[in-house]
Amino acid sequence: MEEKIRALQAQAAAAIEKAANSLEELDGIRVKFLGKKGELTGILRGMGAVAAEERPKVGKIVNEARAQLEELIAQKNAELKTRALEQKLAHEKIDVTLPGRIQPVGHLHPLTLTLERIKKIFMNMGFSVEEGPEIEQDYYNFEALNLPKDHPARDMQDSFYITEDILMRSQTSPVQARTMERNAKAGMANKPIRMIAPGRVYRRDEYDASHSPMFTQVEGLVVDEGISLADLKGTLELFLREIFGEKVGVRFRPSFFPFTEPSAEVDISCVMCHGQGCSACKGTGWMEILGAGMVHPHVLEMSGYDPAKVSGYAFGLGVERITMLAYGVDDLRLFYDNDARFLKQF
Ligand code: FA5
Ligand code: MG
Repeated sequence: MEEKIRALQAQAAAAIEKAANSLEELDGIRVKFLGKKGELTGILRGMGAVAAEERPKVGKIVNEARAQLEELIAQKNAELKTRALEQKLAHEKIDVTLPGRIQPVGHLHPLTLTLERIKKIFMNMGFSVEEGPEIEQDYYNFEALNLPKDHPARDMQDSFYITEDILMRSQTSPVQARTMERNAKAGMANKPIRMIAPGRVYRRDEYDASHSPMFTQVEGLVVDEGISLADLKGTLELFLREIFGEKVGVRFRPSFFPFTEPSAEVDISCVMCHGQGCSACKGTGWMEILGAGMVHPHVLEMSGYDPAKVSGYAFGLGVERITMLAYGVDDLRLFYDNDARFLKQF
């Protein structure tokens, strides 16, 4: 009996020693010898057949064998676990000298970039930046700008009405009237103004390569004693040279706006052909860039300013148009497509 137990013990110990490969194998060995139906357990069960005086001795040997095997299994178990961890660590080694993963960072939209440039140029000339509501009263969008109801010039900006008297503003010009009126109502009529007013405007327009029903304008207004057309020309020329370069040609062409008199459309020499004439400028060598003029005396008057004391000029430019010309973009809709391949280029 004793020999049988010793043999079993040696067999189990050898098996444990060889179970170098996995925890699963080790557990299999444990079950085989020490499990409920294991071989060593079987001997304990069969103790009934052992002579009574032999039992304590045999029991002791079995228990010792069991204790030794459990100890061996525990050791092997720890060894296998350590080895598994070491392998994992060797495999997943972290190289702390590697550069970090770079998170892609976006940047400002081209229209915002242009707007920031425009703002900076005018702020450097002492202009303040004003804001007005995109949902505007008919009064400020049209009437206070010399466009009474049924005035035919309203047709050009046929707009999105919310009620009869409220609409999505069709231009940033209402900020002119609002700014002057605010001063006048605060008891500061005729207070000098030198401001720009950027923002979105809305018109029932086509959506094509050069038009959108929603676009961005920057309004300009300067009012003071003795402001003349020369101030308007000088300021706009300076601005356009900042944006398009020293060599750009600037041309003032007579035009009509109900709120300015005289009025002008301002053109720059074609950015593609530099005035030679090409398809982009339809052979003229010039491109229209903004509308401007001397503030109509009646507009000053309606907002509480005295045209006998002060005069002013105003202008309105399209930010999409300027961005297209400054960067050579041939389709306005690209600004609104949100195609990263396009936007990444700025
Ligand atoms: C005006 O909106 C006048 N308020 C400008 C003005 C202000 C004149 C102050 C005098 C004094 P106009 O409709 O031409 O004018 O628009 C001005 C600019 O907005 C145009 O030169 C063009 O660059 C841009 N623009 C006009 N319609 C669209 C459109 N549908 N999509 C994109 N840009 C447009
Ligand atoms: Mg126009």
